[in-house]
Parts: sequence; C-alpha cells; structure tokens
Amino acid sequence: MNTEYLKIENIELTATFQYPASGVILCDARLLKLYPEYFSPEEALPTLALKAGETSKNLGQCLKIYEFLSENGIGRQHTVHVFGGGTISDLAAFAVSTFKRGCRLILYPSTLLAMVDAALGGKTGINHLGYKNFLGSFYPAEKIIIHTPFLKSLPKAELRQGYAEMLKYSLLSEDLLLPDFASPLLLEDDLILSFAAYKMQICAIDPYDHKERLLLNFGHSFGHALEAASQYKIKHGDAIVLGMNIACDYSFQADLIEEEEWNAYRDWLSQYPVPAAAFRFLDETPFEDMIPFLLQDKKNGQELRLILPTEAGIKVVAVKLHQPAAGFDTSRVEQGQRP
Ligand SMILES: NC(=O)c1ccc[n+]([C@@H]2O[C@H](COP(=O)([O-])OP(=O)(O)OC[C@H]3O[C@@H](n4cnc5c(N)ncnc54)[C@H](O)[C@@H]3O)[C@@H](O)[C@H]2O)c1
Repeated sequence: MNTEYLKIENIELTATFQYPASGVILCDARLLKLYPEYFSPEEALPTLALKAGETSKNLGQCLKIYEFLSENGIGRQHTVHVFGGGTISDLAAFAVSTFKRGCRLILYPSTLLAMVDAALGGKTGINHLGYKNFLGSFYPAEKIIIHTPFLKSLPKAELRQGYAEMLKYSLLSEDLLLPDFASPLLLEDDLILSFAAYKMQICAIDPYDHKERLLLNFGHSFGHALEAASQYKIKHGDAIVLGMNIACDYSFQADLIEEEEWNAYRDWLSQYPVPAAAFRFLDETPFEDMIPFLLQDKKNGQELRLILPTEAGIKVVAVKLHQPAAGFDTSRVEQGQRP
C-alpha cells in the first residue's frame, strides 16, 4: 500500500507536511518548538500557541481563543486550523464551534490518541466545575489531516495513551489487528488509518451518541471519574484501561459474565502497561469518592448507564448505584450488539 498518502472520507493521512494557505492556526505550543521548520514559513498565518494538557481544557483558555479569533477578524467563512493532541482539539474545536456559531475547522492531530480517536467524530469539550467534558458540543471538522511523522517526537507514555483507545476498539471489533505494545510500537500508516476508519464508521451510524456510538465509551464512565478524582494526574488512556478493568469486574460481580469470560477480558487488557502510580491511586481511593463524578459524567443522568461486558457482548446497561460496595442492580440491559 502507498503510505505516502491515504484517504478515507474526510480523513487524509499524509507523510508530507503542508502549511495551510489561509485562515488562522491554533497550535500546541510544544509543536511550535519541536517543528520550527513547519510553522515558520515566510508568510506565516496568525498563530496562537496553546498549552496542552487536561487542565488547559477550561473556559479561560476558551476566552483566549475567542479573543484571538476576534482580533484577527475571523468570521464563519474563515478556516481555523488546529494542530495538537486531544486536549488541544477538544478545547479548540469547542471554541471554534461556539465562536459566531461556528467557523470552518480543520484538525491536524499530533498524538496517536488524537489520530485514532479525539480528532474524529466531532465531540468537543472542556472541563468545568471539576467535571470532565462538562461543557461541549458536536462539531465535526470538515477535514482531518493526519501527518504521522509527528509521532516520531511523541514520548512513549503518550503513545501508550493512544494505544489504550486502540485496545478498546480491539475489544469492540474482531476485525482490527492490535499491534503488540512492544518497544518500538509498530505503527504503520495503514494500521492507524484502519483504527481511525473504525471510529468514523461507528460515528457515521450514530453521530450523536444515542446507540451504537455509546459502546465507544467502554471504560469511560469509570475512567473519567478516575481522571477527575485524581485531579487529572492519571492520564486519559491509562484511566480508560483501568475503567475497562473495573467494568469487567462489575460485570462479573453482577453475574453478567462467567468467570471464564471475565478472565479472557482481563488477560486481553493486561497487555496494557498501566503505570504503578495509577494502580496505587485506584487502590487508595474508596469507590464512594468516585460516585459524584460518575453521577455527573455527561453520559449519565440520575441512573447510571454503563457500558459493560455481558454474555451477549459489550452492551449499555442501566445501573442503580444505591449500594456500590455490595454491587450493582443491573436489571436493565438496554442494547448494543457488537457494532
Ligand atoms: N473528542 C473526543 O472524541 C475524544 C476522544 C478521546 C479522547 N479525548 C480527549 O483527548 C484528550 C487526551 O488527548 P492526548 O492524549 O492527545 O493529550 P494531549 O493533547 O495533552 O497531548 C499529550 C502530550 O503530548 C504533547 N504532544 C502533542 N503532540 C506531540 C508530538 N507530536 N510530539 C511530542 N509531544 C507532543 C502535548 O504537548 C502533551 O504534553 C483528553 O482530554 C480526552 O478527554 C477526546
């Protein structure tokens, strides 16, 4: 396969970096430093450097973006080009979606996690009042340009975060070939594209997260609660893998799966190297401490709707959290075959 240039729907995967011709740029400050040759052409576009990280997904940063867009005379017809990982694309796309009711948006994901997940499918979000993605919108980018050479500078711990989402997809679809998380992690362009295409396929069926797309939240209710409870010291991917482990344990406790299946899930998840500090935090945090975060998770109303392994596959299960220590009432399994 020609890996110089691959394309699926509105995703372009390219080995050649192309500086945008017009509009403005919102960029992870780290990328500006790492790739001066990319971002300092003779006629540079107005560029706003943004600090990446979960704590930057906030209203203050959002206001900074609104001011920048306003100062540069940006209107709905102009294009905002966003370079960065998932925290930058969540924040910037949220700002772009709400500025003058939305400008044109092109995303250039620079982390593995953003290439296979965060930049795809149109969910934007910032954290607020201590809760993860408390404010957000659905605003798909008109194009996603994946320049895989960005991954060469990505630290292994950050590659791992993307691998976590790939591990999740591999549990939802038998068609995806998960590489070993060995050193070095072998990430061919067509492999990245196959995982990205899987997410796009699900989002095309259920763009607004009503049914099939909910399954992509496997591990996320517990994971988001862990992230928020740890004040974002636990990284997103690590939290999601812990969240998937917790989901499997609850399924087993609630008799939704047999021991054999429980072990099979846990074996598959155990190929992911969760850092010791994240395990420690989980061990030391009483489950009750996570309940407020679970109940505030935007995917849940009064009743928890968790994505759990069941005998019939991973499904949406309505759960009442009245006796968390003693287990869940998982009487209503709603939907969700393998997508
Ligand atoms: N919107 C969605 O559908 C969706 C889906 C999954 C995850 N997310 C969100 O994505 C976020 C996590 O994204 P992330 O893991 O990309 O984090 P991130 O954006 O914070 O990037 C991680 C780190 O890598 C650095 N970095 C980025 N690109 C680099 C490069 N090419 N070389 C070297 N360093 C680089 C960043 O500066 C940062 O320090 C979370 O907030 C999560 O909630 C959103």
